[in-house]
Amino acid sequence: MKQKLDFRITSNEALNEQTFLLKVSPLNGETLQEVDPGQFVQLLIHDSATLFLRRPISINFVDKETNEMWLLIQSVGGGTKKITEMKVGEILDILFPLGNTFSIPDANKKTLLIGGGVGTAPLLFLGKRLKEKGHQPEFLLGGRKALDIAQVEDFEKLGEVHITTEDGSLGTKGLITHHPILKEKQFDKIYTCGPKPMMIAIARYATDNNIDCEASLENHMPCGFGACLCCVEKTKERGNICVCTEGPVFNINELQWID
Ligand SMILES: Cc1cc2nc3c(=O)[nH]c(=O)nc-3n(C[C@H](O)[C@H](O)[C@H](O)COP(=O)(O)OP(=O)(O)OC[C@H]3O[C@@H](n4cnc5c(N)ncnc54)[C@H](O)[C@@H]3O)c2cc1C
Ligand code: FES
Repeated sequence: MKQKLDFRITSNEALNEQTFLLKVSPLNGETLQEVDPGQFVQLLIHDSATLFLRRPISINFVDKETNEMWLLIQSVGGGTKKITEMKVGEILDILFPLGNTFSIPDANKKTLLIGGGVGTAPLLFLGKRLKEKGHQPEFLLGGRKALDIAQVEDFEKLGEVHITTEDGSLGTKGLITHHPILKEKQFDKIYTCGPKPMMIAIARYATDNNIDCEASLENHMPCGFGACLCCVEKTKERGNICVCTEGPVFNINELQWID
């Protein structure tokens, strides 16, 4: 059930100059409600007349033992800058859980989770869920440079991790879509999140190789409830749909990305 709740920031760690891992826990001490991988939250920016629209952020992880939700946030503009500058103990007004979820296969499947930049955010929680359900997740994480690759140790607890950087400062040099694992190994299912051109290239690879593939879209989302139509995506059978109300996760066969 969607709820608006005050959370206390329990930790705010800079993972690089732009990316921060915020851990938050309900202020009233209540146990976090069940949320699923792929879902996101909307954060209210306090004390700002110009930044009045909530900012969508993926649920990065849920730690049931500490009752904390993790949010991996890249500071790219006024809203994310304000949030990432918040201190431990400060209060965040969060609307959650929003959106649909990644689907989890029934039988034991070899899954590859491909994330570019901060698009890796929802894949940590997804990897945990896949492992809990008996699957074998592997991760392919890409960025421009080594500092862009976050949470590697957390991913390694869940499965094998492969890394690409465009400048070669970590892992294999080049674009994520050129990583040798895509030629060497067979996967039953691919999940992806990151810049749209990257996801379209992954979708093309999945289609060419007959692999089921889901993508989590991060279309610009000003209102978040289907009113402004800024987040629209073209689908093959349902016409233009709002990613905020129908997504953010789609099977790539639904989208007009590939003929
Ligand atoms: C479902 C969903 C999940 C997301 N999950 C995360 C996450 O886990 N971590 C994270 O850091 N970010 C995530 N984002 C992106 C995040 O919401 C935006 O970066 C944020 O809203 C920008 O707000 P701002 O005020 O800082 O920047 P603004 O001043 O609003 O914009 C700054 C710059 O970022 C661009 N921008 C704004 N929104 C987006 C967007 N959605 N995609 C690409 N560029 C954008 C603007 O065009 C502008 O160039 C997600 C977005 C969606 C829709
Ligand atoms: S964000 Fe306004 S319609 Fe989706």
